[in-house]
Amino acid sequence: MVVRRPLIAGNWKMNFDHLRAVAFVQKVAWVLKDAKFSASEVEVSVFPPFTDIRSVQTLIESDGLSFAFGAQDLSQFDDGPHTGDISGEFLKKLNCRYVIIGHSERRQDHHEDDEVVAAKTKAALKHGIVPVICVGETSADLEEFGASAVPVGQLRAAIAGIPGDAEIVVAYEPVWAIGSGQAATPQQAQTVCAALRAVIAEVMSQEVADATRILYGGSVKSGNIASFMREKDVDGALVGGASLDAEEFAKIVQFPKHVIA
Ligand code: 13P
Repeated sequence: MVVRRPLIAGNWKMNFDHLRAVAFVQKVAWVLKDAKFSASEVEVSVFPPFTDIRSVQTLIESDGLSFAFGAQDLSQFDDGPHTGDISGEFLKKLNCRYVIIGHSERRQDHHEDDEVVAAKTKAALKHGIVPVICVGETSADLEEFGASAVPVGQLRAAIAGIPGDAEIVVAYEPVWAIGSGQAATPQQAQTVCAALRAVIAEVMSQEVADATRILYGGSVKSGNIASFMREKDVDGALVGGASLDAEEFAKIVQFPKHVIA
């Protein structure tokens, strides 16, 4: 049986400048050290805004903190006349392990469609960065197509044509659950995450599907994380709002200690 190391990822979105970013990471590190948290049990990653990454990298590497870090987006291009965009090559030089791709806020604010998401996924892999591919349905999609159809279609489009043995992470984030305080139920998350794993098995291989972490995101907090993590196909969380509070984020990371009533 494959054991997937859970991944708790904090997507800061457009919050924290580089000074606050450093103070925040230090605080989470202190809280987790006090709690004798073991990174071998759970992988923790933060996703700061571009302008913070160098500072976060320097802190994590110089203090030997056991956090991974990544970017919230990348360009599908390597270089050239693309004002405002950031290449995967630059992110790799900052040692980014991950990059979030296709977050619903980017699909909405920047009109990123499945084609762009697929191109960005390929760009990340080309530069040796693990893509965290976000998929999820709106409440209108949910009503019209049910829970799985839209995220499954989005994932199929994103991974078409990538190397069959690529390391990817998938995040199922129902749009209606993001920032709403209304998380999906663990059963809803499990159903969709299982459907997403089946797509990976079909398009890539059963072996890759078994090894791939599939995260749930959308109003995750310390009070509900353990119930999601109990589900067989949920391997972690992509946390937005609750990842901006050091104590709360540290509590989420320590979900294996939670007792579920
Ligand atoms: P919230 O945790 O604030 O609902 O955001 C989820 C999200 O969009 C993470 O990428």
